[in-house]
Amino acid sequence: MAFGASAHVILLSLCVFGAPSHASDVVRPRDAVPSGYVALPYYPAPPGGWTNDWSASYAKARALVEEMTLAEKTNITAGSGIFMGKNYGIPCVGNTGSALRLGFPQLCLQDSALGVASTDNVTAFPAGITTGATWDKSLIYERAVAIGQEFRGKGVNIYLGPTVGPLGRKPLGGRNWEGFGADPVLQAIGGALTVKGVQEQGVIATIKHLVGNEQEMYRMYNPLQSGYSSNLDDRTMHELYIWPFAEGVRAGAASVMSAYNAINGSACSQNSYLLNGLLKDELGFQGFVMSDWLSHMSGVASALAGLDMDMPGDTQVPLLGSSYWMYELTRSVLNGSVPVDRLNDMATRIVAAWYQTGQDKDYPPPNFSSNTHDPYGLLYPAALLSPTGLVNQYVNVQADHYKIARKVAQDAITLLKNDDDLLPLSNSSSFKVFGTDAQVNPDGPNACGNRACNKGTLGMGWGSGVADYPYMDGPIDAIKRRTRNVTYYATDTFPSVSAPSPDDVAIVFISSDSGENSFTVEGNHGDRDASKLAAWHSGDTLVQKAAAKYSNVVVVVHTVGPLILEKWIDLPSVKAVLFAHLPGQEAGESLTNVLFGDVSPSGHLPYSITKAAGDLPDSVANLKGFALGQVQDTYTEGLYIDYRYLNKKSIKPRYAFGHGLSYTNFTFTNASIRRVTQLGSTPPSRPPKGPTPSYPTDIPAASEAYYPDGFNAIWRYLYSWLSKADADAATAAAAKGKPYPYPDGYGTEPKAGPPAGGGQGGNPALWDVAYEVTVTVGNAGDRRAGRAVAQAYVQFPEGIAWDTPVVQLRDFEKTAELRPGEAEAVTVRFTRKDVSVWDTTTQDWVVPSPEGRYRFWVGGASDRLEVACYSDTLTCEEGLESLV
Ligand code: NOJ
Repeated sequence: MAFGASAHVILLSLCVFGAPSHASDVVRPRDAVPSGYVALPYYPAPPGGWTNDWSASYAKARALVEEMTLAEKTNITAGSGIFMGKNYGIPCVGNTGSALRLGFPQLCLQDSALGVASTDNVTAFPAGITTGATWDKSLIYERAVAIGQEFRGKGVNIYLGPTVGPLGRKPLGGRNWEGFGADPVLQAIGGALTVKGVQEQGVIATIKHLVGNEQEMYRMYNPLQSGYSSNLDDRTMHELYIWPFAEGVRAGAASVMSAYNAINGSACSQNSYLLNGLLKDELGFQGFVMSDWLSHMSGVASALAGLDMDMPGDTQVPLLGSSYWMYELTRSVLNGSVPVDRLNDMATRIVAAWYQTGQDKDYPPPNFSSNTHDPYGLLYPAALLSPTGLVNQYVNVQADHYKIARKVAQDAITLLKNDDDLLPLSNSSSFKVFGTDAQVNPDGPNACGNRACNKGTLGMGWGSGVADYPYMDGPIDAIKRRTRNVTYYATDTFPSVSAPSPDDVAIVFISSDSGENSFTVEGNHGDRDASKLAAWHSGDTLVQKAAAKYSNVVVVVHTVGPLILEKWIDLPSVKAVLFAHLPGQEAGESLTNVLFGDVSPSGHLPYSITKAAGDLPDSVANLKGFALGQVQDTYTEGLYIDYRYLNKKSIKPRYAFGHGLSYTNFTFTNASIRRVTQLGSTPPSRPPKGPTPSYPTDIPAASEAYYPDGFNAIWRYLYSWLSKADADAATAAAAKGKPYPYPDGYGTEPKAGPPAGGGQGGNPALWDVAYEVTVTVGNAGDRRAGRAVAQAYVQFPEGIAWDTPVVQLRDFEKTAELRPGEAEAVTVRFTRKDVSVWDTTTQDWVVPSPEGRYRFWVGGASDRLEVACYSDTLTCEEGLESLV
């Protein structure tokens, strides 16, 4: 099925490869992708500024960009080189060039989604997957506010998060833990609230990675091999993978990072359909698109395709001091291959994002170095000869953020099983604790750079998505603070122990790690290709052996994602299992608060746990291995990932998506439904685009690109200037009018915009609330307080022309802590988009049967939906058997 409107299948047959700023540049054909998967050309790049919510920032940006020279404009659209921070001598993971003459600074771009990376005095927050497991919108938002404050406090302009792709299609995928869960709506709510919380602090948020980066191995293009191609159809793109990006854009995200891989054969950093068409025109994205690090592979092609910022500025082979943009982009504008209005749009988008987040007023400069913890260091670490200067000011930005970090870690803990009410524990029991995961890495929590080892308590995965721990509150330390009667066996091999006594409780800690492909850990290349879905360090055997010895066993799991638990889950002495996910620095007390019953567990699984890896389809269960040529990862399962697939095939998982027990139990009663907006089958027409800034379109004078007189270049630092001779030659080339070999389908005629667009995120009417369901959630227990999650799923009417998953999550709300007998009314909402499918023919969202019976299900898990409300009769039923 094709992306884009039409029946005509056009393959953008050539991808420009190398440094194509001139007609003679090398091009190489794209690899073939399976038939039917195409990335249609979409040109020209839509200029930003046409939505009301950004118009004031664009007006200011236009005024500033108008004053910029050509070299100033190109300077702000790319990094100054890997490891080459200049401003204040303090390098971030990415640093743009500046236009200081006009007061526009270098921008500092810094990882990670869970805290400020590579520096001190910060909070190591729980990972995205942990945050998703709270199913708590307020906590997601509060975590984001705290993260935003820390990034601002360190002087970071651009937060490289939240991660909303990978979506978690493949349980073995290495970076699923950076995002919020294997469902577009959970991911979208996590991402959108994070964008909001971070940007309210004045920090630009970056939704990443657009899109289809669902496995780590073979993700990157290099001069010898193409990154893999994620081949997916238009409906799957809209209903699953782009959905969280749409919500992030709607929340006002000022930046997007393109992914390493290709979509339908076209690399994301230069895929015109993805960037120009889907993101900027249909989703109405007004900010700027940056490339993921070293994924930039062309000069002209990427500019035309909608990329706005090249990070970190270097070519695919870094450190040589060469770039496809910077001085090359200057050249490309002078010789006429990149239209000047494209460059103006790139620069305007970046400057508008800066105004939109208020960074023009009192924004602190960076006060740390990503490269050293010493106070003084090299100002230009990648240069051969570099002056030294103050690079670290050790600004403490932690405030009391440990509280929110601990609350997220605590409220994410997911109780999967609790036979005989073994939990909560009484601190008078005798505890035997097993597993090295219970203790902080004896070498120190940050002993492994980028957390690229799994030693000690697993608080985060590995790669760029980490932060340094200021400290790690280890589980065993917290357990010892609670109770004296503890024996800890710091081993993953079951030790010899004395004969158990009846009041012994064994607590076994196991883990499973994954991360980014830049590091291999215990044979895992980012993805869990070696460990698969088994616990690391023979953890499953440790549990089995403990279960053979003790009759009361609690298993605590720190994990990046699902595991297969079958080896021990049904053993009678394995009475309780807690998934503590990836808790960050607050691993200890968050856990003991739950173990010992200060609070009831209230987390819910952000993915399904199957009984066997093969319960999911091959395309999802397996990673793609090496191939000669481009690896093709084709999404043959379409919409059917995780619970969507299991439900379709009536495969019972061990624990379903959304599962999570409490120490009490809850009822869902008193349901009512209200129609808020009467829907037709198609949304009202989109609003037209508003005006966008206009500038003169003449090619600037070559003199705007000349190196300043007497300029002393630092080797390998990337500059946007050209020598006089080069600049003049580029101008002369333009005069000759030798045509650039533009891609097939290239055009300069502006588009009105697709019908599904019209505002940030898409046609604003898609967010009209169609139905509201209110349910009373009551604590029906008599002993313990607890928090419940009302999960809301849609079931489409029968007999429609579209195949739809049995149920799909659309909203959720978590109650306050309810004491026994207390109740709270919660309201969940279903928008027009929630009851629509993506129609590939009309390229719009369609309500398949406005008068038909939609069933809106509410309950405590995807397989415990006991209340259904009906759109046709506006009535509800309670106490139902769950559908799946
Ligand atoms: C590559 C990663 O994919 C991305 O998430 C990260 O932000 C950049 N590197 C910068 O470290």
